[in-house]
Amino acid sequence: MDIKLSLAPLQGVTDYYFRNAFAKYFGGIDVAFTPYLRIQYGEVRKSLLHDIQPENNQMPVVPQIMTNSVEEFLFLAQLIEQLDYKEVNWNLGCPYPMVAKRKLGSGMLAFPELIQSILDEVMPKINFKLSIKMRSGYETPDEFPKVLEMLNNYELSEIIFHPRYGKQLYKGAADVPLFGKAFELSKHKLAYNGDITNAAFFANLQTQFPQTEHFMIGRALISNPFLAAELKGLPTVSNKKAVFKEFHNTLYQQFAEKLSGTGHLMSKMLALWEYFSLSFTNSHKVYKRIKKASNVARYNEAVSIIFREEDFL
Ligand SMILES: Cc1cc2nc3c(=O)[nH]c(=O)nc-3n(C[C@H](O)[C@H](O)[C@H](O)COP(=O)(O)O)c2cc1C
Repeated sequence: MDIKLSLAPLQGVTDYYFRNAFAKYFGGIDVAFTPYLRIQYGEVRKSLLHDIQPENNQMPVVPQIMTNSVEEFLFLAQLIEQLDYKEVNWNLGCPYPMVAKRKLGSGMLAFPELIQSILDEVMPKINFKLSIKMRSGYETPDEFPKVLEMLNNYELSEIIFHPRYGKQLYKGAADVPLFGKAFELSKHKLAYNGDITNAAFFANLQTQFPQTEHFMIGRALISNPFLAAELKGLPTVSNKKAVFKEFHNTLYQQFAEKLSGTGHLMSKMLALWEYFSLSFTNSHKVYKRIKKASNVARYNEAVSIIFREEDFL
């Protein structure tokens, strides 16, 4: 069986600049899911529309949407269909209270009838395959069985299941046995997402769930973009730090050109270093160095010191 590995969507991190730079320097990822598109104040933000323009994307992507209304769903569907995408992913997983409390993302999981009513209306009208990304619930991890049973009545290309519930945010460990329960309840193809950080964890998942073809990886791939190739047993480079530096420089140059103002650039890079720092020795110190860098000159100095003094793990 061919294993498919995907890059998880991380709003603010895995935009097309990141995805394209990833595709240039690293291997092992078959497809990337975009951070969610959403209608706010009657429109989709321009940056999100740019993010799914086919000409901006150098690796295969599946656009993701987040909505709890039929009207919005169909509006987003039309936008995406015009760009000729064959698959769209619906976000039923976002855990943030501001979102979930408005019955969006994982906040919809306690309301299977709402999800059902939307699917009933939209499924006959869309011209792409629909997949769903979901958690085990919002308030508790017991909400998913009803949702999965209801979803059995629809044609979905797959369900990406992250075995945490919304209120947990990212705390604790992914509850891997819950994925097994989801597997028993769903007739759909289930993809696994959550806490894949190393080959041993991945091998364990494959042993427990031999039918699973698709694994999605988020945070660990941003810290260590070599991970996907390693999990697939593809040849890896010996000079990881040098390749990672090129990757960093490519991202930095692109953001320096695109973003107006040092503040924006620094906060964008800091968001990346929250993950990057974890792959360096003395990661805490590494992160602090970047955090303290308040302008371009100090940032560049911090980056030179990090690449000179620390090892890439
Ligand atoms: C900062 C951040 C932003 C995220 N944005 C999205 C998003 O837009 N859509 C989505 O489905 N999941 C989003 N997620 C969740 C990830 O896609 C993924 O499900 C989660 O990080 C668990 O996988 P991991 O343990 O491999 O990172 C986000 C997670 C983080 C930390």
